[in-house]
Amino acid sequence: MDKKALEALLSEMSLEEKVMQLVQIPGSEYEADAEITGVTRGQADEKVKRLAGSTLGVWGSKRLKKIQENYMKEHPHHIPLMFMLDVIHGHKTVLPCPLGQGATFDPEAVKKGAAMQAKEASSDGVHATFSPMADLCRDARWGRIMESTGEDKYLNSCMATAMVEGYQGEDLKDPEHIAACVKHFAAYGAGEGGRDYNNTELSEHTLREHYLRAYGEAIKKNPAMVMTSFNTINGIPATGNTFLMKKILREEFGFKGVLISDWAAVGEMINHGFAEDQKDAAFKAMMAGVDIDMTSGCYSGYLEELVKSGEISEKMLDEAVLRVLNMKNDLGLFEDPFREIDMEEGASVTEESRKLARKTVAESLVLLENKAQALPLRKERNAFIGPFVNTKRLQSSWAFSGEDENTVTVFEAASEIYESGNIKFAEGCTMMDQDSVTARGVCHMENWQEENEKLLSEALEAAKWADTVILCLGEDSTQSGEATSKASLKLPAVQLKLLDELSKIGKRIVTLIFTGRPLELADVAKLSDAMLVCWLPGTEGGNGVMDVLSGKTSPSGRLPVSFPYTVGQEPLHYDMYSTGRPKPASGPSEYTSRYLDCENGALYPFGYGLSYTTFEYSGASLSKEKMTSGETLTASVKVRNTGDMKGDVTVQLYIRDITGSRVRPIRELAGFKKISLEPGSEEIVSFKISEEMLRFWTAEEKWDSEPGRFNVWLCDSSVDGETLEFRLD
Ligand code: BGC
Repeated sequence: MDKKALEALLSEMSLEEKVMQLVQIPGSEYEADAEITGVTRGQADEKVKRLAGSTLGVWGSKRLKKIQENYMKEHPHHIPLMFMLDVIHGHKTVLPCPLGQGATFDPEAVKKGAAMQAKEASSDGVHATFSPMADLCRDARWGRIMESTGEDKYLNSCMATAMVEGYQGEDLKDPEHIAACVKHFAAYGAGEGGRDYNNTELSEHTLREHYLRAYGEAIKKNPAMVMTSFNTINGIPATGNTFLMKKILREEFGFKGVLISDWAAVGEMINHGFAEDQKDAAFKAMMAGVDIDMTSGCYSGYLEELVKSGEISEKMLDEAVLRVLNMKNDLGLFEDPFREIDMEEGASVTEESRKLARKTVAESLVLLENKAQALPLRKERNAFIGPFVNTKRLQSSWAFSGEDENTVTVFEAASEIYESGNIKFAEGCTMMDQDSVTARGVCHMENWQEENEKLLSEALEAAKWADTVILCLGEDSTQSGEATSKASLKLPAVQLKLLDELSKIGKRIVTLIFTGRPLELADVAKLSDAMLVCWLPGTEGGNGVMDVLSGKTSPSGRLPVSFPYTVGQEPLHYDMYSTGRPKPASGPSEYTSRYLDCENGALYPFGYGLSYTTFEYSGASLSKEKMTSGETLTASVKVRNTGDMKGDVTVQLYIRDITGSRVRPIRELAGFKKISLEPGSEEIVSFKISEEMLRFWTAEEKWDSEPGRFNVWLCDSSVDGETLEFRLD
């Protein structure tokens, strides 16, 4: 449909019809078993069901085709219904959780993964996903850190951009692609104390320089939607925040697509104490520019009245409705409301999708320790122990459309590689401590004590038999994701006890950590010979993990987020500011900025990760010592594989602006390149540095660079490398 035809359609629609295009209702209004991702209050009446412009949480080619047919028959202008779903890290084939994808430092792989998810979701009738989540996360207590690609604005920008491109492809009309939604705008990751839905207090420069960056970059790729966040920012809920939505999102970022609220967030402005009632909430959300009200009922209940009374102008309503109609049009729904869905087929896991997932898993694993080359595993007696060894629950709570039965467990994959006489499996302990609280409630198990005693004694037997114990520990997938904030970052006590008991047997211990958030691992590291972070790896989890354990692939993942010594360090991130009394690298540190009982920095820092081979960095240099604003300079370093195995290495570029009209972070990631090196081979890795890369939100409240000295590091993590220097004149 062309623009004129769309406008003509709009002019024919009744006020009620128009308002309803801005209403999204839960899929449970159409299908009883739809996924509910928030609290629902009451049911939509028949009119709302008949006219609501979109729904979420239902998928499946047959089901959606039927819903669409019935809906369009009833709709006065036969405008198709839009189906949205949280396809966060997989639809049928589940990839590593977004934090794991961040660890790949491979945006190309992430883009391919998003394209694969789009294809699967689309063949199941889905039109739009609520992804990518571009929230900057510096606090491991916040369970939704799992849904992010980490603590760094540059890495997050690369990943969010790659996801938008992968989901949407070149043209949204292509039925292999779906609409993306950049969320949660803005600064949802900065909630005080790491507590979900909590308020955020951010200065404008912190907001602009750090928190807004990844959303801004992703929006340059024209995502069809942006979602508001649940939090307040400096006292104003994001969903009613005109500064954020009108000034920044629409005016400065030039976003032209559909702005949707998060689940019930319009109505939640009443709880915040920002809106008096549902009508006031509808008014404030509309004034802030929110086009679609996801499930709160405020628009369906009061928007018509607000337009009739003139409080909201019909022009404003029309603009919002047109954006929604445009999105439907961009998806090709007016020409084909079913987007070539094959009713019989639907989405499924394929050999090709498994291959891509398996490769991504292997790329996402981060080797934190490898004492005396405990890894790769030797062909000897290996005992696989722990609650994650043979579980199919290797995906996060945000992969609900993927079926557990498709998942390959670690033990299944290991059994393919090693002869049965050479491996043993023991569960070792339960996944959780008794009465642990999860997003879904309290987990109580009858006979928990007896069960754990039995599991422990079986594990000890297996360990006595083995040469190496591969101990698979971690956090259950219901303990990260939405509404899963935690004040402790330790593994469950029952798992730590298992490690402790096994360590007394004196065998080599390789510990695998399955998690959606950074955990406190200092004590675990002491008792382990090797330690590998596996995230929540998804469908091909077992195979990807075994590719690395067996040495088929050398690990190449890097931490996208700092792992602390202790939870007391949170929020923790490498790109801190210097204080007036920085702690010296060595020597006396009285009266400096430090913890008396802990290091300042991370136990395992951002960008860190080991390989089975070793890499040597040498000859780091800059092409010139001075640069003016129209010029660029080149930073280069030689990287050599000095070990005896092929490996991938992520060379990282960090910059520090030494003096500014506002203080600048001690380091900021400005680029990275992942290269593959054969043993003994070397490569010169170069990055161009331009004036644009040196801009920040200055004391004059604008994006600019300032003349002065800059440090540069070309290195292996956020804490190493030789310091180089240049001047910007
Ligand atoms: C979450 C969003 C999600 C939405 C729809 C909310 O609870 O915060 O991230 O996209 O539900 O499922």
